Amino acid sequence: MSNVSRGPELMEKLVSLCKRRGFVFPGSEIYGGLANSWDYGPLGVELKNNIKMMWWKMFVSRRSDMVAIDAALLMNPKVWEASGHVATFSDPLVECKACHARLRADQLEGVCPTCGKKEFTEARAFNLMLRTWLGPTQDDAAVVYLRPETAQAMFVDFKNVLETTRRRLPFGVAQIGKAFRNEITPGNFIFRQREFEQMEIEYFIREEEWEAHFEHWLGEMKKWVALLGVKPERLHYVDIPDEDRAFYSKRTVDVEYDYPFGQKELYGLAYRTNYDLGKHEEHSGAELKYTNPDDQKEKFVPHVIEPSFGVDRSLLVALLEAYDEDEVDGESRVVMRFPYWMAPVKVAVLPLSKKSELSEPAQKLAQQLREADFAVEYDETQSIGKRYRRQDEIGTPFCVTFDFDSLTDGAVTVRDRDTMAQVRVPLDKLVTEIKQRLA
Ligand code: GAP
Repeated sequence: MSNVSRGPELMEKLVSLCKRRGFVFPGSEIYGGLANSWDYGPLGVELKNNIKMMWWKMFVSRRSDMVAIDAALLMNPKVWEASGHVATFSDPLVECKACHARLRADQLEGVCPTCGKKEFTEARAFNLMLRTWLGPTQDDAAVVYLRPETAQAMFVDFKNVLETTRRRLPFGVAQIGKAFRNEITPGNFIFRQREFEQMEIEYFIREEEWEAHFEHWLGEMKKWVALLGVKPERLHYVDIPDEDRAFYSKRTVDVEYDYPFGQKELYGLAYRTNYDLGKHEEHSGAELKYTNPDDQKEKFVPHVIEPSFGVDRSLLVALLEAYDEDEVDGESRVVMRFPYWMAPVKVAVLPLSKKSELSEPAQKLAQQLREADFAVEYDETQSIGKRYRRQDEIGTPFCVTFDFDSLTDGAVTVRDRDTMAQVRVPLDKLVTEIKQRLA
């Protein structure tokens, strides 16, 4: 059992590791940064892709009742009028009268976190949608919004999806993509950003079946967080009370996680009734109904269950769960215990010495492993112990050491990240051995 403290120092260690090893960098850093923007580095993008790919497998390609879309980020502004985002997608904004810090009234604990004073302006609704202009004129008619959620495209494209796929209820439409919100108080590393990514599903159903589908999706979300490697005791499934729920939602469960900065939202599951499709029907004039192919008289606007996942929060939680420290031969090591499927590098190939008699066959071996579709890192600098530590720190499950004996016995040493056990494996069995262990 790991005894890593889960307090604020864990975030500091993680942010530093992410920068040092190329998971996540501060955005635009050489220009002094851009408030709370983050770039995924070479390891971060692999980690993120692995998470998105696994999500896609679990929720799209391995299911018979799901299809997906990849819609434009910029949509007709009428979409956001219909959905209610123009009128109501806002947070209450106050300004500190002393230092002019702009803060969210609903998160304020009576004192300005910037200067400690206690006087604020009246709260006003601040719309969170980011606006820009499309085309060469910057007037009101050219205003468009960067989408604040991926969800609306699944409603707007409902008719096209239905006509092209001839799906029967229940079925779902999934999408992974960027979303933008002009958050008043972004922060806590990649937890709350102004540009982030979502993985969302709109699962279309008959109204009378909503409770059963809701339970099903809650179960699927629980399976997903287990797959991410999250310990169940750090998760909370919070039923949002009537007064805090969007008026059109009949039930919402927030999946919350114990971050080092407190218990906060990770994902959300909502029963949105047929509010969105109904609103888009009303505003666009298009018919967004489903006709029962077995009974043409049965024609209605489907209801929807919406499981919504943040990519960046998935990544943050995966990093927090994977972080571990232990001691090897009196030296402490940091080890990222990612589930194997998630690890950005699967195998590191390490020649025992830089001498070309070892480095040449070792590089060849690394290339063979790449061609067998493993994510491979080749490293020949510094002592073998230091190289093991470097791989542990990025969570590489297996290190393959090519030594002088390899030249004569045609075998290599495979070291396991977690047990640190080392076994000799013949080169012609290496791909199979690693595949089996990763499975
Ligand atoms: N379509 C429903 C919807 O967008 P939401 O709770 O506002 O619901 C869904 O967002 C998920 O998107 C959240 O549970 C979270 O994982 C992620 N998310 C929302 N705002 C975010 C932000 N500013 N930065 C990073 N992730 C965010």
